[in-house]
Amino acid sequence: MERYAEQTRQEFEGWEEFYSKPVDIKSDFFKQNDRIFDVIYAQQFDREFLDYLCGLADKIRLMARTKMGLGKLKHLLPHKRAMLYFVQPSTRTFLSFMNACHTLGLSVSEIRGTSTSSEVKGESREDTIRTFASYVDLIISRHPEAGFAEKTAWVLNQTERPVPVLNGGSGPDQHPTQALLDIYTLEREFSNIGGLDGKKIAMVGDLRRGRTVRSLSYLMKNYKDISLYFVAPDVFRMKEDIKGFLEKHGISFHETEDFKSIMPLVDAIYMTRIQNEYTENPSSKVETFPAFHFKTQHLGIIQPHCVILHPLPRRYEIEVSVDKDPRAAYWRQERCGMWIRAALIAYIFRVDQEILDEFS
Ligand code: MLT
Repeated sequence: MERYAEQTRQEFEGWEEFYSKPVDIKSDFFKQNDRIFDVIYAQQFDREFLDYLCGLADKIRLMARTKMGLGKLKHLLPHKRAMLYFVQPSTRTFLSFMNACHTLGLSVSEIRGTSTSSEVKGESREDTIRTFASYVDLIISRHPEAGFAEKTAWVLNQTERPVPVLNGGSGPDQHPTQALLDIYTLEREFSNIGGLDGKKIAMVGDLRRGRTVRSLSYLMKNYKDISLYFVAPDVFRMKEDIKGFLEKHGISFHETEDFKSIMPLVDAIYMTRIQNEYTENPSSKVETFPAFHFKTQHLGIIQPHCVILHPLPRRYEIEVSVDKDPRAAYWRQERCGMWIRAALIAYIFRVDQEILDEFS
C-alpha cells in the first residue's frame, strides 16, 4: 500500500458546496465549447458519445496496424504533453494510457508515488497538480481518494491554465475510462448479435467497493432493455446509490448470492476481485469467497455466446484454465482499453475528425 506524506491541507472556498451537487447539475463545468473536457464521472457519457467513441476507437485500431497509419496517428499530437499522476497501484490503466498517448504522438511524464514528489515536503496535492499543469497539456490521475480527480479539475478550471483531467480511478468511487473500455469490449463481442442492447449482464464479486462495476452500472442507462444481475456476498452488495440510480432510470436489476443459478441466463459475466486494499487491516487473512469464482466446470453451463469479462487484476476469481475458452474476453478487454483511451484523448484534443477523414 502506498504511504502518504503529511500534506498541507488548505481550505478551497466553494469546493465542498460544488462537490455536494448532483452530477447532472455540475457536468457542464467539465465541458468546454459544448464538448467533454474533463472526464470525471461515467454519468458524463451519453449514447451518442459512446457510439461515436467506439467507432473512433475502431478506426484508430485499424490505422495503428500499418506503419503508414501509425505514422499518421503519431503526427496528430506531437506538440502535446501528458502527465500520468498515478499514486495508487496500476498496471493496465497506466500502460494503456501511456501507450494511447504514444500512439497519438504525445510525450508523457509520470509520477507513481507521493514519496518522489514535493508532497513529501508538505506541498498540498492541489499545488502539486497545479505545478503539473504548468508543464503539460493533459493530466491523467489515479488516486486512492474519491473526489480527487474532480477536485483537480475544479481547481484547474479556475486557473489561467486549465488542462483536461482524466480520472483513471478515484478510490472505491469511479473508474469512468474503465467503463468506456468495458462498453467497447461488450459492443465488439456482441457485434454479431445486435450489440449490447437487450443483453443480460451479471456483475460478480465485491460490488460494494469495486469502482469498475459502479461506473459500468451508470452507463447502462444508455442501452435499451438491459437486465443486470448483481451477484455478491451479503457484505459486498451493490451500494444503494447505484441501485437508486438504476431504479430512477428504469433499469432492471436482481440481486442474488446464488452465482450458479444465473450463469445459464446471462449474455455476459463481469467478474471482479475482493478489494482488500479498502479493508481496515488489508494484511489480515484474505477471505476468497469461492462461491463467487468462475471455474472451468462452469463453461459447460453458460450460453455459447456468453462472454466473461474482468477488469483485472485477477486473483482467484477465474480459474486460469478458463482463459483458453474463446468466451474468456478479459485479455481482449485489456487491449480494448488502449484503443478507447486513444480515442478519448483524440476527442479531447479535437483531432477525431482528422482520423475519421482518413476513412472517408
Ligand atoms: C481498478 O483499478 O479498479 C481495477 O482495474 C480493478 C481492480 O483493481 O480490481
